[in-house]
Amino acid sequence: MCGIVGYVGKSNATEIILGGLEQLEYRGYDSAGIALYTEDGIKIAKEKGRLKNLNDELEVSPLNGLMGIGHTRWATHGAPSKTNAHPHTTEEKTIAVVHNGIIENYRKLQEMLVKEGYTFVTETDTEVVPYLVDWCYEGDLLAAVYKAISYLEGAYALGIMHKNHPNELVAVRKESPLIVGIAEDGYLIASDIPAVLEHTQKVYYVDNHEVVYLTPDDVKFFDGAKAPVQKDVKVIDWDAQTASKGGYDYFMLKEIHEQPVAIGETLKRRLDENGRIHLDDFKLTKEQLENISKVYIVACGTAYYAGIVGKYIIEKLAKIPVITDIASEFRYSDPFIDENTLMIVVSQSGETADTLAAMKEAQSKGARVLAITNVVGSSLARGADDIFYTWAGPEIAVASTKAYTSQIVGFYTIALYFADLKGIVTPERYNELIEKILPLGDKVAEILENKGQIEEIAKKLVNAHSAFYLGRGLDYTIAEEGALKLKEVAYVHTEAFAAGELKHGTIALIEDDVPVIAISTQEELIGKLVSNIKEVKARGAYVVAIAKKGCEEMHHVADEVIEIPVEEDFLMPILAVVPTQLIAYYTSITKGIDVDKPRNLAKSVTVE
Ligand code: M6R
Repeated sequence: MCGIVGYVGKSNATEIILGGLEQLEYRGYDSAGIALYTEDGIKIAKEKGRLKNLNDELEVSPLNGLMGIGHTRWATHGAPSKTNAHPHTTEEKTIAVVHNGIIENYRKLQEMLVKEGYTFVTETDTEVVPYLVDWCYEGDLLAAVYKAISYLEGAYALGIMHKNHPNELVAVRKESPLIVGIAEDGYLIASDIPAVLEHTQKVYYVDNHEVVYLTPDDVKFFDGAKAPVQKDVKVIDWDAQTASKGGYDYFMLKEIHEQPVAIGETLKRRLDENGRIHLDDFKLTKEQLENISKVYIVACGTAYYAGIVGKYIIEKLAKIPVITDIASEFRYSDPFIDENTLMIVVSQSGETADTLAAMKEAQSKGARVLAITNVVGSSLARGADDIFYTWAGPEIAVASTKAYTSQIVGFYTIALYFADLKGIVTPERYNELIEKILPLGDKVAEILENKGQIEEIAKKLVNAHSAFYLGRGLDYTIAEEGALKLKEVAYVHTEAFAAGELKHGTIALIEDDVPVIAISTQEELIGKLVSNIKEVKARGAYVVAIAKKGCEEMHHVADEVIEIPVEEDFLMPILAVVPTQLIAYYTSITKGIDVDKPRNLAKSVTVE
């Protein structure tokens, strides 16, 4: 949540910062602000709402300088407003601060600072930081920041500048993500890579508790004990073009269309010259795997729904019992974790606070942690024992699509690798599955060609107050993901139900024209699902079925059938989810919603 950008160098800081914030708007977009070091001291511009409002304001009243910090906000403490927007400053604007994260002890600090004579004007937790730095300041900015952070509890990535230090930018990281970009004529700090790509593909990843001291010609890193840290430059292998819309109206549609390639890549990059799965970032040995008695899969939102598909896949192929849990609940359930547990954490961003906390909890109890993530060098990747990168490319839209399908390919790949290590899969089945997964992207492309039908169906959903997704077995897991998508981007209240469970209460909600989307890809469950569809049809529901091509039973009972290519049931989740993504997308844009930035949401949820 929230995105921060900073620049110190020889170019126009305003342009660089605003460009960076545009790339970070997915992290929060209820207000934006910038602090510039100008000839007349530190100047601030802030606006409520999208970044565009700030851009418009700066067109009217430009600010120029060679150093500055900027912020795009997802409100946690205090409503979205101009006053609560960052940067926050001291009363005299001697110090300006941008912050991503939460200062948990801000009330206590505020009380202490009020007694010292400071006056607070915002409802934010962040406002304590500039005053705290001011209170600690004795002429040396870096020293003041070190002293100030010793008082802070919580999570923070901070960018800090001081009126008396025209060429010094200080940044700090604890839990919240932070990188440094090395540009030709200066240095940037940012919450995420896309913010710097316009200027550089060379970055440093800032580690927890590190403090960064930047000037136009140099960057220095220090650890929590103030000792200098030597870091390696990382070169990002995607550029600004990859992170742009590339001709699509929205990132969500672009990312849905990137799935045919992303799905294939996730597995292809793991195959050696003999067509065997080789996992580079896995240190788990055959002996260690044999000692694993259970797997926990823990994640949030869509990544969690990929996890419940993963449970089916691992149990079926690798024959290890799997427990799934939502990361935000995991720590309260007294989980059965020990050194014979493998925890798999799933996260597109690799920065989700609840998932990170769950990982730490499991590690403290001796579990080994495997991270499935899309972001190289993310906090999850750096904390885990083994890593599976999904290689789906940057996912910018708030709604996760290609990351989800790549995560599921990840589960097939990992489960097959485990089954092979354990010697419980025949060579024929091993090769058969690989040969079937590799061209699955082509089948996704076939579904995308049929999107016109889905666009029409979506028109019937725009006025719905509520909708239902039904499924059994693996189809139920897809129903869960489909319902989340329709809720988050189209604001249609949608429930996912195991089809057999409906008659135990929820069927009371079915009345004339209520949309029910039934997912039916599991051959042996079709008969039972047909009965459930008849039950809702009898009560007036409008039924759309997502079914394999040629499934006559569905044509008999449903009002509309979205046909998808035929594959063996076990692999159908990757295909079945695609129409659900398109249904959500078209319903959203037909309602005139900004589908990439739905209300109240942020792409990266870095608060618990
Ligand atoms: O980055 P993560 O995969 O850890 O994010 C988890 C969820 O916040 C995320 O999947 C969220 O549910 C998406 N908005 C769903 O489209």
